[in-house]
Amino acid sequence: MQQLLEFKQSARTTWATGDYDAMMRQEQLYGVGVELVQRLGIGRDETVLDVACGTGNAAIPAAEAGARVTGVDLTPEMLATARRRAASADVEVAWTEGDAEDLPFDDDSFDVVVSTFGCMFAPRHEVVADEIARVLRPGGRLGVASWTPQGAFGEFFRTVGAHLPPSPDYVDPPPLWGDEQHVTELFEGTGIRLDFAREAWEIGHDSLQAAVECYTTALGPVVEARQLSESEGAWPQLRDDLLELFRRHDTSDDDRLVFPAEYLVVVGHAQ
Ligand SMILES: C[S@@+](CC[C@H](N)C(=O)[O-])C[C@H]1O[C@@H](n2cnc3c(N)ncnc32)[C@H](O)[C@@H]1O
Repeated sequence: MQQLLEFKQSARTTWATGDYDAMMRQEQLYGVGVELVQRLGIGRDETVLDVACGTGNAAIPAAEAGARVTGVDLTPEMLATARRRAASADVEVAWTEGDAEDLPFDDDSFDVVVSTFGCMFAPRHEVVADEIARVLRPGGRLGVASWTPQGAFGEFFRTVGAHLPPSPDYVDPPPLWGDEQHVTELFEGTGIRLDFAREAWEIGHDSLQAAVECYTTALGPVVEARQLSESEGAWPQLRDDLLELFRRHDTSDDDRLVFPAEYLVVVGHAQ
């Protein structure tokens, strides 16, 4: 389907925009990958796939735990940063360019499949869930972390999305991967038993303005929303909407911005 190919090409360009790694370091979000690896008890010599691995949030700590890790992502620029991070951590990961909706691996290939804020961005959630179930071996484990629709980032995506052209009908909204009922339905009939836990990551920035500047210069989809809104004269509105959102979620009692960002951790066991 030509439209879908174009959508993915455009997603690749989007995620290559900005400086994702800088945002991840600012928000210490690489800790989520470390926690997921610990939660799943990933150990030496297990085969692990990180889906939509980006700069290696889960892949690198899994490799540090001694696992044999493959990271797959649509965007070569993300994988280039992942390679640099893995080299600094002195670990090896098989970085692979590929689509979460068409994983380039055989059935039953992995002991563990993980994804942190990754597979939620592939457009057709059911296709991704089927692919994950296909490559996970019987008895294997699954771990997925996704922002929830009700949390600060769920609201953030809706706010930014209002300033972007509407998505095609076949695109499922990303934060639905953070909804227990939706994820249960995705994996129905796959033989994977699921457990859920809602967690919150404390995000910190020097100020409300610094947060807006960070997202609109570093996080690809938001950089594009800023560029588009600037070309249409709507940037002051988007900036004010984001400032207002952060002000409502701010829990700090000084000039800094601190807010809890809720995410859902899905742990699965394949029969
Ligand atoms: C928010 S980033 C998350 C990256 C990483 N997992 C993390 O925790 O930082 C989303 C990633 O999904 C990737 N992505 C989007 N659509 C994809 C698809 N259809 N298949 C594979 N990767 C995809 C993007 O290239 C990007 O690296």
